[in-house]
Amino acid sequence: MSAQILDGNAIAKTLRGEIRAELERWSSAGRRLPGLAVILVGNDPASEIYVKGKRRDCDEVGFHSIVQHLSANVSQADLEARIAALNDDATIDGILVQTPLPEHIDEDRIIDCIDPAKDVDGFHAYNIGLLALRRPALRSCTPKGIMLLLEHIGCAFNGMDAAIIGASNHVGRPMGLELLLAGCTVTTAHKFTRNIEDKVKLADIVISAVGKPGLVPAAWIKPGAIVIDVGITRGENNKLYGDVQFEAVKDVASWITPVPGGVGPMTRIALLQNTLQAARVHQGLL
Ligand code: GUN
Repeated sequence: MSAQILDGNAIAKTLRGEIRAELERWSSAGRRLPGLAVILVGNDPASEIYVKGKRRDCDEVGFHSIVQHLSANVSQADLEARIAALNDDATIDGILVQTPLPEHIDEDRIIDCIDPAKDVDGFHAYNIGLLALRRPALRSCTPKGIMLLLEHIGCAFNGMDAAIIGASNHVGRPMGLELLLAGCTVTTAHKFTRNIEDKVKLADIVISAVGKPGLVPAAWIKPGAIVIDVGITRGENNKLYGDVQFEAVKDVASWITPVPGGVGPMTRIALLQNTLQAARVHQGLL
């Protein structure tokens, strides 16, 4: 078997077109356009690239967007005050604080400061809690983007076995909640999991979100499984590597995401969708 490629770039392009069309209707109706504020702290080159991409996406669909680029020495209090100001800014529907943050900043407290109705990353405890209670509102972007990919290929979800490798707050944990809500039986593997391969081999859907190039070999994959690679590691040659041994796994899986061009563009489309959703709520449309 040779897997079909899940082309995140192509799917995201179609979905951006749908958002742009909706915003044209908003403009004609004289509505305020959705606004996204991104806070970038310090000069991490990867973060700068990600933030530029988010800005470009906003421009392409017609969102209002601002970027506050702060010094790596910014204090916790200053950062929290900026978030408070954005919470009160009626032109801003979504607030995203790019991570990683410098060591001296307490990231949990920063996320706690964001108004849950503007938490377009879906990282706030309130939004994670709503997802856990089967009342999703603003959903974490990478898991939401992966659900959009799986829905795109008509994944049946109910009763499927899913294995998630990695239990981070931003990806692994909310991914498990998404798949559980969709009707899957979910196993989440983490650094203390024994015999990971035995668990992954049972899965119809495998999602790896570790950041270890080549972690997942073909021998771990059940024939016909759907394989989603969230891992993205930049090698010395500046090339990007996923967690999955793509060339070998594509001969076993039914569908597989490439790196780059699989999950990454879907995370970005989920951010745009969340910002539009927050704007709808703020304008009394939902
Ligand atoms: N750093 C890398 N990806 C992301 C993301 O999706 N959101 C935030 N806030 N920071 C990130």
